[in-house]
Amino acid sequence: MKKQKTVFFCNECGYESGKWLGRCPGCESWNSFIEEIVQEAASRSTAKRTAASRSLNDIETDERDRKSTNINEIDRVLGGGIVRGSLILIGGEPGIGKSTILIQIAANYSGNKVLYISGEESLAQIKLRADRLKTKGSNIFMLAETDLDSIQNCIEKEKPELVMIDSIQTVFSDSLTSAPGTVSQVREATARLMRMSKETGITIIIVGHVTKEGTLAGPRVLEHMVDTVLYFEGERHMSYRILRAVKNRFGSTNEIGVFEMSDSGLREIGNPSEIMLSGRPIDTSGSVVVSTIEGTRPMLIEIQALMSDTNLVMPRRTTNGVDANRISLLIAVLDKKIGLRISSMDAYVNVLGGLKISEPACDLGIVCAIASSFKDTAIDHKTVILGEVGLTGEIRNISHLDKRINEAARMGFDKCIIPAGDLMEQGKYKNIEILKFTGVRDVFDYLF
Ligand SMILES: Nc1ncnc2c1ncn2[C@@H]1O[C@H](COP(=O)(O)OP(=O)(O)OP(=O)(O)O)[C@@H](O)[C@H]1O
Ligand SMILES: [Mg+2]
Repeated sequence: MKKQKTVFFCNECGYESGKWLGRCPGCESWNSFIEEIVQEAASRSTAKRTAASRSLNDIETDERDRKSTNINEIDRVLGGGIVRGSLILIGGEPGIGKSTILIQIAANYSGNKVLYISGEESLAQIKLRADRLKTKGSNIFMLAETDLDSIQNCIEKEKPELVMIDSIQTVFSDSLTSAPGTVSQVREATARLMRMSKETGITIIIVGHVTKEGTLAGPRVLEHMVDTVLYFEGERHMSYRILRAVKNRFGSTNEIGVFEMSDSGLREIGNPSEIMLSGRPIDTSGSVVVSTIEGTRPMLIEIQALMSDTNLVMPRRTTNGVDANRISLLIAVLDKKIGLRISSMDAYVNVLGGLKISEPACDLGIVCAIASSFKDTAIDHKTVILGEVGLTGEIRNISHLDKRINEAARMGFDKCIIPAGDLMEQGKYKNIEILKFTGVRDVFDYLF
């Protein structure tokens, strides 16, 4: 006998509650609870069921199980290609280009048959896009369907190598009473697809919408269930897009892929520094170029700071792309250790190009941008500044210095400020002058 029970789920984060709540304790969103009926399976005896285990050594693997998408930036983010039998989730805001990237993966995929299932667009609409992207696809098969059982049957019948589902929020199963897109439906669909991909070795890529808060619509458990979670991000008013791995069971999560959106689809950008620095103001105070490492790749980015007088008791610390706490800390160091009286001023710090930096190697760059704005003195626009700043105002060593300096030299910079503690041989770099400093105070004496 099956028991029926009613539970309430938060549609934003998947929080489960026995009664309706106005505000979700999990994600603090208002009015997000919806009622769903869950059917509990009648308890079965487990006495007769057994499963056999295998020795780890007996399990065969094959390195060739990775298939290239033939798009370098995507392969890099995935850790070298798509792993056979994995379930990949691509999340992104509306209109960012999720369907476009799917079609491009399908068109370039090095394997055999690709099945593209769309619950959002008609086949004619997809064809229009594919024509615009100049996709030649005798390998690509299309299906417009939202019913999970039909999708499963179709996959079993067609036996494709790669399945794409756009999007998981439109897929629904008859066996649940709740509406498509709700937490239980999304969870059920993902769980069934997961089982299918593991049993058959078919790779499945699903698209997930994100909410206005920027998290994947539907429960967080979705992220736990799949093998790889990729986020497709970008500034609305800019044409470039960044593909980022948030979770990857088969590769690093530090790598990013950079693309430009054009009418013929997403174009790979092999030289992101150039894009990140385009339109940079020359010889203006408050602007500094730093060299960051995204995954294994160095990238030059511009950091801007603006210090302004305030009549607020608590001065503002507004940041974009860097942690506000880190900025407060660096301002405190400048105020206390270097004697720059700025802690009672409003501080605005911005990382250009929509990137987020979290590594301490950019500290010195940020500090110099703040001081440059405060003193209203420009820093030479061909200087790159690298180093971590400690609480006593000392400059500490950073990782991957070689890569960072080479990238700066390649982009035509002629001076590079680095921590003195680095044991680099003299005259190693021909085209770029290396300046070593031990403390923030020395750097300021040199710059201003
Ligand atoms: N003719 C065009 N020229 C240039 N860019 C275009 C053109 N048509 C569409 N685009 C770009 O493609 C984007 C839409 O791409 P796509 O449909 O893949 O997005 P999506 O993430 O799948 O959206 P949704 O959330 O609605 O499914 C548009 O926002 C626009 O930037
Ligand atoms: Mg779409």
